[in-house]
Amino acid sequence: MEMSINDLPAGNPSSSAPTTISLQCLACRRAYSALEVRYQCDCGGLLDVWHDLEALRPQVSRGLFDGRLSGVPGPRVAPTTNSGVWRYREIILPATIDNIVSRPEGNTPLYEHDCISEWAGVEKLFLKHEGENPTGSFKDRGMTVGVTQAKLLGANAVACASTGNTSASLAAYAARAGIPALVFIPSGKIAAGKLAQALAYGAHTLQIRGDFDDAMNLVRQVCNQMGVYLLNSLNPFRLEGQKSIVFELLQGFQWQPPDWIVLPAGNLGNTAAFGKALFEAQQLGLVDRIPRVAAVQAAGASPFYQSFKTNFAKRITVKPNTVATAIRIGKPVSYERAIRTMNWTNGLVASVTDSEIMDAKAIVDSAGIGCEPASAASVAGLRQLQKAGIIKSEETVICILTGNLLKDPAATVDYHTGAWPEAQYANPPTQLEPDMKAVERELERRL
Ligand code: F0G
Repeated sequence: MEMSINDLPAGNPSSSAPTTISLQCLACRRAYSALEVRYQCDCGGLLDVWHDLEALRPQVSRGLFDGRLSGVPGPRVAPTTNSGVWRYREIILPATIDNIVSRPEGNTPLYEHDCISEWAGVEKLFLKHEGENPTGSFKDRGMTVGVTQAKLLGANAVACASTGNTSASLAAYAARAGIPALVFIPSGKIAAGKLAQALAYGAHTLQIRGDFDDAMNLVRQVCNQMGVYLLNSLNPFRLEGQKSIVFELLQGFQWQPPDWIVLPAGNLGNTAAFGKALFEAQQLGLVDRIPRVAAVQAAGASPFYQSFKTNFAKRITVKPNTVATAIRIGKPVSYERAIRTMNWTNGLVASVTDSEIMDAKAIVDSAGIGCEPASAASVAGLRQLQKAGIIKSEETVICILTGNLLKDPAATVDYHTGAWPEAQYANPPTQLEPDMKAVERELERRL
């Protein structure tokens, strides 16, 4: 594919680009146009998409969003009808229907299962399965908005660094939009399903000999110097899409918030998006109280947890290592935004070992639901917080499962075939001769 990226940055912004939003710096509050290609403030601060909540208050209501729940999938149905992201477009990105790049995404299930509840020690436990999005992770919710914004800005190419899911999602949505995609991934450190997706959807895939944090540094330089539009969660439009996880789960509970939302945390984009969504939902009168957010990191990649333990007095970075490759990140980009979530939601951060993650995953998998390792950090974190008496067994908890089981088949097979000596719930296969007697003997033993 011929790349023509020299005449970026902004290309030709579409005349229908939204003007009712702007970008605002978290640190110094400086405002910029939403039509500017910009990921950070001149002062170095992170940016938010700013919505005029005063102006929106009379326009949005529970009724408005509930009235949009009736869409039936069919040919040429507008994405605004059957997407669990664009249903909330007024408080995400007020793009016009023609511009929207959608699969469509969202409308993910809320699972319940006695085994998982019992294991985690919480009766009213629901799993919001974001791994059941079109490309198998929650990233699709951010990417539909990010790629729509790229189109509105007239971007000639889009890029991201990724531990795998963002690159899979970017590759798919860029292909839908007909925009070339560049993905920077840590060589050898992403799960097979995710690499397969980036290649299959046609992204220019660059395997960087380094970790995610190295790839992230590099893609930022590439985007700044070559005028490619950056679609990591540093880009605030991505986070606007990810807010819809929270809007959708609140709507799923008829706008009665649970006590806790527990989610895995790596680059902290989702943690950041959840806080903003909850704050805005309350400001807009969609809910009257805010659940607490618990962000869970893998012990070997837990810079946010370690900073939390210092009450965020010190920003800690680490050399990351964990089986949950999706969250193998040592220097999370959305650090300040995620601290804001902790403040807004009376939130907390936990850390779980790889063994705890893999055991939690085995429990979720054995219920017929299934998820990738990073996702199970939420359930492992819940169990730990329940045991510590922080989350009470009678409280209502939603754990977010962020990615599909099929993303990382190797991690699952390794767990069940002996690579984890401490595995609690391994279900190893048995090799047999092609012989009826052998089958009978084996089934007697097993049943
Ligand atoms: N779970 C999964 C399955 C992920 O892929 C990620 C992040 C997270 C949790 C953590 O979310 O970064 O917002 O705190 N994956 C990114 C990627 C980094 O490149 O796909 P976060």
